[in-house]
Amino acid sequence: MKQNNLVLAVNGTLMRGLELENNLKEAGAFFIKESKTEKAYRLYSIDDKYPAMIRVSNGGNTVDVELYSISEEGLKQVLSKEPPGLTIKEITLIDGTSVLGVVGLDDIIKGQKEITTYGGWRNYISNKENNMKKLFIYYSYTGRGDIVAQRMQEKGYEVRKVETVKNLPKSFFWAMMVGGFQAGAKKKAKLKDFDKDISMYEEVAFGSPIWNGTFTPALNSLLSVLDLSNKKLSFIFYSGSGEGKEAVKRLNKEYPNAPYIFLKDPKKYPEELKKLD
Ligand SMILES: Cc1cc2nc3c(=O)[nH]c(=O)nc-3n(C[C@H](O)[C@H](O)[C@H](O)COP(=O)(O)O)c2cc1C
Repeated sequence: MKQNNLVLAVNGTLMRGLELENNLKEAGAFFIKESKTEKAYRLYSIDDKYPAMIRVSNGGNTVDVELYSISEEGLKQVLSKEPPGLTIKEITLIDGTSVLGVVGLDDIIKGQKEITTYGGWRNYISNKENNMKKLFIYYSYTGRGDIVAQRMQEKGYEVRKVETVKNLPKSFFWAMMVGGFQAGAKKKAKLKDFDKDISMYEEVAFGSPIWNGTFTPALNSLLSVLDLSNKKLSFIFYSGSGEGKEAVKRLNKEYPNAPYIFLKDPKKYPEELKKLD
């Protein structure tokens, strides 16, 4: 019979709520408590995907860990699914007890970033997310987009607005005809000069009204002139109906990994902005 007679200290993606948590669950392990190592370890971020903890003879610190009870069989199972460069060894906790712990092999930390000062992986990744530079770049014809931009700024995004060189005709009817046609035909609009350097942002959120069920010509232009490689993209649309069927089709086809949201006239329905939280 499987008996959970071992204690395993984990310090990375096996922790609760993180990517490999299920490996512990599937191995029948039970969470006991949070703890820390004694002051004798250093922590490294391996390509920002997972940490490697190494014991050092001096200059070490504590590292946050979570303790699990686990069987020998369960431990083997967990180890077989660990990322490369990690192994299991005896480690010492801050209260002096010895348990098994996930540690890095010396080779794996070469050229990797030391993150010991963060005290643990969880603290490191939450800091990283908070410091991530985010841009909201948007177009607005009748001002709804500006309301969205204000909220995005409050949420920590830097904001850039783009404007088209030409306006739509003054008459509502002709504006709908011309704008609707251009959008439907996936036309691009000539944009007034704006700062196209987005190299300092990791995340870029686009804002656009829905015209004729789809992207505005201004959004088409933005998507074609910006260098979006390696960016985390998302889209926020505002429309009279809160929908944009053709836009959804294009998103699924051209940006299948980008989350998107539709807001129904955020001027008339400010509560729609809660969808951004
Ligand atoms: C040319 C044009 C076409 C539009 N087509 C649609 C549409 O197909 N569906 C919809 O729900 N709203 C449509 N609208 C309404 C806008 O999407 C909506 O008013 C939006 O909130 C405007 O954002 P803005 O104030 O930032 O320009 C259209 C507006 C214009 C000017």
